[in-house]
Parts: sequence; C-alpha cells; structure tokens
Amino acid sequence: MNRLENKTVVVTGGGRGIGRAGAVAMAAEGATVAVLDLDVAAAESVVAEIEDAGGKARAWGTDITSPEQVESTVGEVIAWGGQVDVLVHSAGIVGPAMLKDMTLESFERVVKVNLTGTFVCLKALIPHWIELGHGKFVALTSPAAKRGQVGGGNYAAAKAGVVALVKTAAVELARHNVTANALLPIAATEMSANVRENPKLEEKFLGMIPLRRWAGPEEIAPSLVFLASSDSDYMTGSVLSVDGGRTI
Ligand SMILES: NC(=O)c1ccc[n+]([C@@H]2O[C@H](COP(=O)([O-])OP(=O)(O)OC[C@H]3O[C@@H](n4cnc5c(N)ncnc54)[C@H](O)[C@@H]3O)[C@@H](O)[C@H]2O)c1
Repeated sequence: MNRLENKTVVVTGGGRGIGRAGAVAMAAEGATVAVLDLDVAAAESVVAEIEDAGGKARAWGTDITSPEQVESTVGEVIAWGGQVDVLVHSAGIVGPAMLKDMTLESFERVVKVNLTGTFVCLKALIPHWIELGHGKFVALTSPAAKRGQVGGGNYAAAKAGVVALVKTAAVELARHNVTANALLPIAATEMSANVRENPKLEEKFLGMIPLRRWAGPEEIAPSLVFLASSDSDYMTGSVLSVDGGRTI
C-alpha cells in the first residue's frame, strides 16, 4: 500500500484496457494520476472510478500523436500535480492486414500512434525529468515485437521500435536518474477482442500460450505499479514479459 505516495503519474491510453487498470491500481497505491486518452469520456469515467475509491485523478482528452497537445497537457499536469514522476505510455492501436495487402497509409498510421506517439510523449517529459533529477518511463510493447505477427507487420515493427526507443532512453538518461523499461503483456481487452470473438482463432492463440489462458488487464496492472515504484529503481532498459509464457 502507498508505494506511489507523493508521486504524480501520467497514463496515456488510460481510458480503457491495460491503461485503465494501471491507472486504477497506481491511484490505489497513492499516486496522483493524470488519465490521458483520445476518448475523453472514457478517461473521465476512469477518473470517477478512482475518485469513488478515494484517489486523486484528472482526465485529459489528448491525442498522443500531436506534439502540441502533448506538450500543453504535460504543462497542465505539472501545474496541477506539482511534477510528473512517471509516464506509463499505454496508448496504442492495431491495423490488421497481411503485408501483401497492407497500404502505406495503414503502415504509417499504426507506426504513428504506437511508435512516433511514444517518442512524442517521452520527449515532452525529458526536460522536466532532467530538471527534477529523476523520472520513470514505462512503455507498452508486445509479443509481436519479438516474434512478428501474422497480419500485424505495422504493429510488430512499431512495437519493436518501442523497445529500441526504451533501451536508448535507458542509456541516454541514466545519468539524470531517469529509468526506462518496457512491459510486454497479453490481456483480454478491446484490442484483443477480435481473437476472443473467433473460437478457432482463440484456440490457436491460446495454444501458443503455455499458461493456456488470457490475463485480465488487472493482472497486468501490478507489474505497472512495480515499474512505476521505487521497487524497480535498479532496473532500466528491460522488457518485462507478463504474457503467460508466450515469448519464452
Ligand atoms: N491487449 C493485449 O493483449 C496487448 C498485447 C500486447 C501489447 N499491448 C499493448 O498494450 C497497450 C494497451 O493495450 P490495450 O489492450 O489496453 O488496448 P485498448 O485498445 O483497450 O486501449 C488503448 C487505449 O489507447 C487509446 N488511444 C488510441 N490512440 C490514441 C491516441 N492517438 N491518443 C490517445 N489515446 C489513444 C484508446 O482510446 C484506448 O483507450 C497498447 O500499447 C497495446 O499495443 C496489448
């Protein structure tokens, strides 16, 4: 309890899925949570859930691909929360297509949200973290980054890029006491709904997971709390897999 007391955390994509579960869990550990999502109504409902449980949070309807929106949101969060100690970057999309059919537009859109958006959010916080003398960056990657993904070349490429960005942030920012780690999950969320809605596809998918089941997003959240807390202070440049063994 209270492992994140006096910490302000920004959660992108916090309106739904893993971001929502992480925001709720970190607030329960005492964090002040800025919930950012393209879907502001979803972000507001997460804030209401946190406040109902006695926590402190505020919603922003921010598009993480827009440097202007991200920079102004970061400024507002710092004014509201005093500082930003942690960025949990969970916003992401998929755009399924086989490579032979994938349009350049689809490739660029998925890379823009998943990879460029990660860079935009990280970059907006670096000057603040250097001034603060500490910071924690946690980004969501995917099994697709390690294994590729049939019908997800855009997504796999972007998520592999996220790992490279995290490792670079780890080595560049260590001297400023800033850590950077990636979390590699599998969870039953809206993003993975297309697999669960197709029994044959789901059977095949679960057959590739040694634990043979989905995790709920609330099973991913404790690892986000760990990466956001001082318990992970000596960890940087790592990829923490919470994927039922998929990437063994
Ligand atoms: N669910 C899984 O099995 C799984 C597996 C591997 C990696 N991931 C990664 O974990 C993260 C969270 O996934 P999830 O399953 O919770 O997905 P989700 O679709 O349930 O939630 C994603 C959230 O991101 C928001 N978002 C999308 N584009 C945005 C933008 N431009 N600006 C701001 N917000 C935006 C959405 O509105 C949504 O609330 C993603 O980065 C995803 O790629 C998920």
